[in-house]
Amino acid sequence: MVQPFIRLEHINHQYSGGNKALVDINLSLSAEEFTVLIGPSGAGKSTLMRVLNGLVRPTSGTVWIENVPITVVPERTVRLERRRIGMVFQQFNLVRRLSALENVLLGRLGFMPTWQSTLKRYSRADRELAMGLLERVGLADHAWQRADTLSGGQQQRVGIARALAQQPRLILADEPISALDPKSAEGVMDLLRDIQERDGIAVIANLHFLETVREYAARVIALKKGAVVFDGRLEELTEAVTRELYYGEKAAQPQYASQASELNVALESR
Ligand SMILES: Nc1ncnc2c1ncn2[C@@H]1O[C@H](COP(=O)(O)OP(=O)(O)OP(=O)(O)O)[C@@H](O)[C@H]1O
Ligand SMILES: [Mg+2]
Repeated sequence: MVQPFIRLEHINHQYSGGNKALVDINLSLSAEEFTVLIGPSGAGKSTLMRVLNGLVRPTSGTVWIENVPITVVPERTVRLERRRIGMVFQQFNLVRRLSALENVLLGRLGFMPTWQSTLKRYSRADRELAMGLLERVGLADHAWQRADTLSGGQQQRVGIARALAQQPRLILADEPISALDPKSAEGVMDLLRDIQERDGIAVIANLHFLETVREYAARVIALKKGAVVFDGRLEELTEAVTRELYYGEKAAQPQYASQASELNVALESR
C-alpha cells in the first residue's frame, strides 16, 4: 500500500478569542492526485492550509508530513520542513520592486547560510534554476521586468516559479485564481496540474468555482464550519452535495414548505 504523504489526526483549531475554525479533521493525502479544497467562506480552508505548512499550530491533533509530526517538533524543525512546502497566494505576494527573476530566487533563501541570504548572494546553480523555472512558466522574456509591471496572470506564474524554486514536495495554493480573468486562470490551473502530474509534487488548491473544480480535481475535500463534510473522488461530488454545502440552511426550506402544505391540508380538512 502507498504510504500516505500527509496525515492529519484529530486536528482541532481555535484562534484565540475566536470560534472553532477546525473541528476534528482526519485526512490522509497522497501526492498522486490533484486535491481541491472547497467550502463556503469562513469554513476553515485557509486555516487548514496554514496548519499544513506549520504557520498555525493547531490547538490539538497531529499533522504528519512524510513521517515528521510537524505539529509537535520544535519551531526550528518546522522552519526546515516548511522550506519544502511552496505557497501560492490569491494576491501573488511578490516583492513589487524586484524583478521576476529576483522574486523566483527568493524561493532559494531558506536553503542558504544566513550571511549569504542576508546579502542575497545566490549561487550560479540557484540562478540557473530560477531562470529555468521562468522558462517553464513561459516568462523567460520577462525575467528582468519589475514584478509590479507584470499582468496578474504573469505575476501568479512568477509566484508558482518561486514556489518551485523551493524544490517542494507539496504546493499549497490558496485561491490561486480568484484574482484572475478566465484565460489567465486557465493558464495557472494548467500549470499547477502539469506540476502535479509531471513532477509528482502534491498540489492542494482551494477553489471557489465549481466549474474549475470539476475540470481539475481528482479528489475533493469539502469543509463546512471547520469540519470535513465531503471527501471523495470528483465523480462522487453530486449536485446534491454541493447544494447542501453552500446552501445547506436554505435547502431546509422545502421542509417548511411541506409542513405548511400539511398545515393547509389539515386546515382544509376541518
Ligand atoms: N487570525 C485569525 N484570528 C481569529 N480568527 C480567525 C483568524 N483567521 C481566521 N479566523 C476565523 O476562522 C474561521 C475560518 O477562517 P478561514 O480563513 O480559514 O476560512 P476560509 O474557508 O479560508 O474562508 P474564505 O473562503 O473566505 O477564505 C473564520 O471564522 C474566521 O473568522
Ligand atoms: Mg481563505
